[in-house]
Amino acid sequence: MKKDLLSIDDLTRDEIYRVLDTAEAMREIGERPIKKVPTLRGKTVVNLFYEPSTRTRTSFEIAEKRLSADTLNIAVAASSVLKGETLADTAMNIEAMAPDMIVLRHASSGAGHLLGRICKSRVINAGDGMHEHPTQALLDAFTIRRHKQAIEGLKVAIVGDLLHSRVLRSNVLLLTKLGAQVWVSGPPTLVPPGIERLGVRVSTSVDEAVADADVIMMLRIQQERMQGAFFPSLREYFHVFGMTEARVRRARPDVIIMHPGPMNRGVEIAGEVADGPYSVILEQVANGVSVRMAVLYLLAGGVEEMN
Ligand code: CP
Repeated sequence: MKKDLLSIDDLTRDEIYRVLDTAEAMREIGERPIKKVPTLRGKTVVNLFYEPSTRTRTSFEIAEKRLSADTLNIAVAASSVLKGETLADTAMNIEAMAPDMIVLRHASSGAGHLLGRICKSRVINAGDGMHEHPTQALLDAFTIRRHKQAIEGLKVAIVGDLLHSRVLRSNVLLLTKLGAQVWVSGPPTLVPPGIERLGVRVSTSVDEAVADADVIMMLRIQQERMQGAFFPSLREYFHVFGMTEARVRRARPDVIIMHPGPMNRGVEIAGEVADGPYSVILEQVANGVSVRMAVLYLLAGGVEEMN
């Protein structure tokens, strides 16, 4: 693997499968009475989150602790960032204390690339602006593969706020690389120009996108990144693009419903779909720990025995 994991483009198809296979072994560790192995003993991992996070930050920290790494969380609100320190200066100061890995979430697209250039430490992108969220796509692929055995040939419909979604970009890169047929759907104002060039089918009709789908992945309406009105009202959005039980019935009978979280219930997804029998949303969260353990292990060299 490359020094850093900043984008799905950093991984070959074989490396993606290596992460998924390693995550299966990590999952077994999570089922033991004592969920801890000495694999990353003596390694220091810094979690540097400039944007809010529940799932990603927590699952990275659990993953690091299960692998016995020394974990440090930098609370940006209590750091010198508030005194005007730049990301580059913060990074150089953290680097001076010689951590082995830095997990970064930042509002700016490309922040991880800046850190990766400055730091000898390995950098993992935990979400950068509207660019990418590679470990989310890996845990999504892991979840899909556990349910469908293979990803090649599946129809995956991704629906919602496509324009502001780093989860969309990473998933499109990964799923097309593994041979899935990806459809995307959302209001025309929230479709990134030129997205078809990534090898996806675009439809403004959700019903068309989800017809006979094996997987439906819903994306959050990211109002915090919107300046101006992209659709008339949340109520109308739900009516036209929300995932309802009636829409789910257009997909294959064994469809799985995914959402990276956090969810806006009653906006992009009906509560009964989020909590319904096809939903694997909480499985995605659980799988996030195994996949992030695999990424940390492989970036650290992947040579220690996992016992
Ligand atoms: N999926 C995801 O990135 O969630 P968080 O923002 O809670 O980390």
